[in-house]
Amino acid sequence: MPNDPFINMTPIYSKITGLGFYVPDNIVMNDDLKQYMDTSDSWIQDRTGIKQRRYFTFGKDTNASMGAAASRNALDRAGVAPANVDLIVYATITPDYYFPGSAFLMQRELGLEGIAVIDVRQQCSGFVYALSIADQFIKGGMYKTVLVVGSEIQSSLLNKSTEGRNVAVIFGDGAGAAVVQATTDPEHRILSTHLHADGRHAEDLMVKDPGSSRDGRWLTEATLAAGDYNVSMNGNAVFKHAVVRFMEVINEALDANGYTANDLDLLVPHQANIRISEYVRQQMNLPAEKVFNNIQKYGNTTAASIPIALTEAHEEGHIQPGNLICLAAFGSGFTWASALIRW
Ligand code: COA
Repeated sequence: MPNDPFINMTPIYSKITGLGFYVPDNIVMNDDLKQYMDTSDSWIQDRTGIKQRRYFTFGKDTNASMGAAASRNALDRAGVAPANVDLIVYATITPDYYFPGSAFLMQRELGLEGIAVIDVRQQCSGFVYALSIADQFIKGGMYKTVLVVGSEIQSSLLNKSTEGRNVAVIFGDGAGAAVVQATTDPEHRILSTHLHADGRHAEDLMVKDPGSSRDGRWLTEATLAAGDYNVSMNGNAVFKHAVVRFMEVINEALDANGYTANDLDLLVPHQANIRISEYVRQQMNLPAEKVFNNIQKYGNTTAASIPIALTEAHEEGHIQPGNLICLAAFGSGFTWASALIRW
């Protein structure tokens, strides 16, 4: 069958060719939060590992401008001109507008009018979902260069009073980006991605308002008075599910490729809470140097946390060509996801 197009076709894979991140200048230490709420540096560090986080500066930073700064950084390092980007996949739960999403605003800022953009929500798993979308579009042959972004401004969403302190101390602002490109090299590439969700737990970590399924308008005096525009979190339930799902989805990625935890060079988990990462590390018998954490500096930046951590890990030399790298996420939805990469 010499004319069969499926014979002798070289498989197309995807690989990350550039990484970048941007965090706002404004550093907020744990003690700085005491001006808003009854808390302490020791409570926050003991329970979460966080020492400081960044808050955006109004008038300077926007969700899309931070995504653009991270993207320029990633494109520079990949040696890719913005004009060569075919698709933007943009993960955020804190968009500049209710709609259209921040992908459109960042596309405009980068001068890429006309190319396709996809906004992804998926909360703390947003970046891994976005990376998987990029991987599928590239492997399917539709696009060659995809910009994958996670960007969040959480600080304007938080209830920074004592009432909201169990949530407010955890989150921070920032953005990270990866340039993902087509390759025929079977050795250095994204090996697989794994995505999951369980909507039975939707209300365990949520922002309820503004929502459409309301009696009357979606934003009213009554909605504002109810305060359901704040993040509400069942911290205990999140913690319990997170530790199980993190391990499951990491093992799923390893199993799918015939590896075990011993083969991993670096795990880059979503920076949810140092105690979650530490529990997973111990259960999986991984040495401390094989799990990257930077939650101490940035808090939990939701969809931005993995690309920020991956970029820092790479900058600090923890990722070398040939290394086996696992990205793993868990978050609201609930969602959980992983990506295994041979760098
Ligand atoms: N500062 C000081 N005290 C605080 C506080 C804060 N920021 N937040 C809560 N507290 C108090 C509570 O009021 C409570 O006081 P009480 O015993 O007098 O009632 C006490 O600390 C314990 O609160 P609790 O909510 O039971 O704490 P916890 O040990 O469960 O820790 C989390 C809370 C949020 C740190 C923990 O549940 C957690 O890490 N969950 C996972 C969250 C997560 O990772 N979310 C992101 C997922 S992507």
